[in-house]
Amino acid sequence: MATIKVRQNGSLLVDGEDVTLVDWNGNEYALAKRPFALCRCGHSTNKPFCDGTHSKIGFEAGEAAVGPEARDRPAE
Ligand code: FES
Repeated sequence: MATIKVRQNGSLLVDGEDVTLVDWNGNEYALAKRPFALCRCGHSTNKPFCDGTHSKIGFEAGEAAVGPEARDRPAE
């Protein structure tokens, strides 16, 4: 099973051995490690991967999931 975690004010953390990341042509990206983080702020110099730039530019995106099981915790 794959899990994609939306980080508060940060990247999308993708975990799972059964995940393949492909470009628009269907070509696979080499994944050096798992989990891996995808850029959500649009400012990484290593897209589609996160390079940590989001924290330097003050990216803010704190939308949390909503629903009966939802809970809100401080960002990690
Ligand atoms: S989310 Fe980390 S650099 Fe964009």
